[in-house]
Amino acid sequence: MKNYNAEIEAAVEKYRTLLEGQLARVERINAAGDAVDYTKMDKIIIGVCGGDGIGPTITAETARVLEHLLADEVKAGRIEFRTVEGLTIENRIAHMKAIPDDVLAELKACDVILKGPTTTPKQGDGMPNIESANVAMRKELDLFANVRPVRVPAQGIDWTFFRENTEGSYAVGSQGQNVTDDLAIDFCVTTTEGTRRIAKLAYEFAKANGKERVSIVTKANVIKTTDGKFLNLCLDVAKDYPEIATDEWFIDIMTAKLVDEKRRRDFKVFVLPNLYGDIITDEAAEFQGGVGTAGSANIGKRYAMFEAIHGSAPRMVAEGRAIYADPCSMLRAGVMLLNHIGYNKEASRLEKALDFCMFEEKKLTVTGRNTGATCREFADYVSETLAKM
Ligand code: IPM
Ligand code: MG
Repeated sequence: MKNYNAEIEAAVEKYRTLLEGQLARVERINAAGDAVDYTKMDKIIIGVCGGDGIGPTITAETARVLEHLLADEVKAGRIEFRTVEGLTIENRIAHMKAIPDDVLAELKACDVILKGPTTTPKQGDGMPNIESANVAMRKELDLFANVRPVRVPAQGIDWTFFRENTEGSYAVGSQGQNVTDDLAIDFCVTTTEGTRRIAKLAYEFAKANGKERVSIVTKANVIKTTDGKFLNLCLDVAKDYPEIATDEWFIDIMTAKLVDEKRRRDFKVFVLPNLYGDIITDEAAEFQGGVGTAGSANIGKRYAMFEAIHGSAPRMVAEGRAIYADPCSMLRAGVMLLNHIGYNKEASRLEKALDFCMFEEKKLTVTGRNTGATCREFADYVSETLAKM
């Protein structure tokens, strides 16, 4: 065999840096205090951050609906909507940072954030290798839980996914190594507290919402160390919730079971590592009408960010279709935002109005093309429905 000492030494040195970073993160999450209590805050600042592609369109329409719903709170000074500029792909490339420092400081001055999708550079698209703004924000604000509900009432589907949001294959996703021209290695990370906190949140949610089952999804038969640890820790947390049934699944068969009409309505709450959660929630959203209809909450102890589960759809913009973008994903995220900050009454009004517009009356539908309503028309339809409720 050729002598690879130099390549191995270089890789080991980079690996050391990566381990130091992850061990520092472990210390930070172990030291994190309790979650903030929004009811004790004098004022809650909602940051509104448009993002790229169709992001500004669907975010602006959602902010408009939320501002209308919370008008009295805004007037009384209990809520402030604050626009955060600069989370665009152009500005991120100009600063060569996933989130430019001044934008991050502005985000950190908010309590919760409504964020439009952002464009993520990928191999071969000619853009520099900048980490996804999404992934960076989840890490910077330690938004460890990605909560993604999917409901299709007519089919008995009522699922809530608890996707671990800062670890797994994403923790050091942009720090993989090309050890030689012929060998590339990526890394997958599981930590004890990182897993326990997402598992606890999933079980607490199940308990508070009368869900009788939690399904743990991994690939622990193959990814034995990190997925094995994730599975064992979830099973350990499950012991504190004897009234809730727990089952274990591998991700491959779970993706199949979600299309099994006889079985899928039995599932309620899922807890799973980052990458599997990413993949399966797009599949799940498809049953509800596509990713354009699904919102996503990114929850941490200090901050929370609410977004669509989909990307910025640059093709829609290139084809001049941005005005036809579906705002439902962001409006669903708005429901989660309202619930998270304790405005449950407003959340349930918005949720009912959305259900009515999307599943019952269906006076307008958004198709993403000029065959359907525009984003603004649909948001107006939701606002009119709200006014009648
Ligand atoms: C999501 C998205 C992101 C992810 C991308 C844009 C980095 O697919 O929120 O599901 O992979 O988490
Ligand atoms: Mg995704």
